Amino acid sequence: MKFFVDTADIAEIRELAATGLVDGVTTNPSLIAKSGRKFVEVIEEICAVVAGPVSAEVTALDHEKMLAEGRYLARIAPNVTIKVPLTVDGLKTCKALSDEGTPVNVTLCFSPAQAILAAKAGARFISPFVGRFDDIGARGMDLIEQIVEIYDNYPTFQTEVLVASVRHPLHVVEAGRMGADVVTVPPSVLRQMYQHPLTDKGLAAFMADWEKTGQTVL
Ligand code: E4P
Repeated sequence: MKFFVDTADIAEIRELAATGLVDGVTTNPSLIAKSGRKFVEVIEEICAVVAGPVSAEVTALDHEKMLAEGRYLARIAPNVTIKVPLTVDGLKTCKALSDEGTPVNVTLCFSPAQAILAAKAGARFISPFVGRFDDIGARGMDLIEQIVEIYDNYPTFQTEVLVASVRHPLHVVEAGRMGADVVTVPPSVLRQMYQHPLTDKGLAAFMADWEKTGQTVL
């Protein structure tokens, strides 16, 4: 299971990448806006910190402009993945860029039918948004289960299931149980994953007992 971080905050990315657990990064226009920085500069910096795929999203809505933006963004660094929305124009762009050898992440996926189309269009990643389903009282992880099942039926589909819009560690656990290829997690969720009160309690007890021995390791 690969771990991407879902942020455009370079300080966070540096800190998390230092753990050795980060395989890639996803950004989107909202995250870029939140960073308050220039899009291309942010992508350049992230690509210099993380060797794995870094998703940069096009903002045009029609195919020709998306393609031009995608080609431009792909030149920033060899590890840029172009993110396109799951629309007719987005999928046309996905097919064109994929045929040119540029990896594409198809975003804003909310149905298994959409995920089939993305795979047919040659997407490297499909990004189903689980948290936004949960937000409206539906079960986002059902979508992951269905997409993994469908993709597993077709070995010719090379598209990786990238679980997006993750809200808490349980989404990550369920994604792992379902065999999703990648999860993109906000930094806060990645930090939550380390936490367990029994780990803290156990460590405190070990340290207290160790102190009684009066020894040091080094
Ligand atoms: C994925 O690539 C998106 O950036 C992201 O996961 C969206 O999540 P949100 O629903 O928290 O905005």
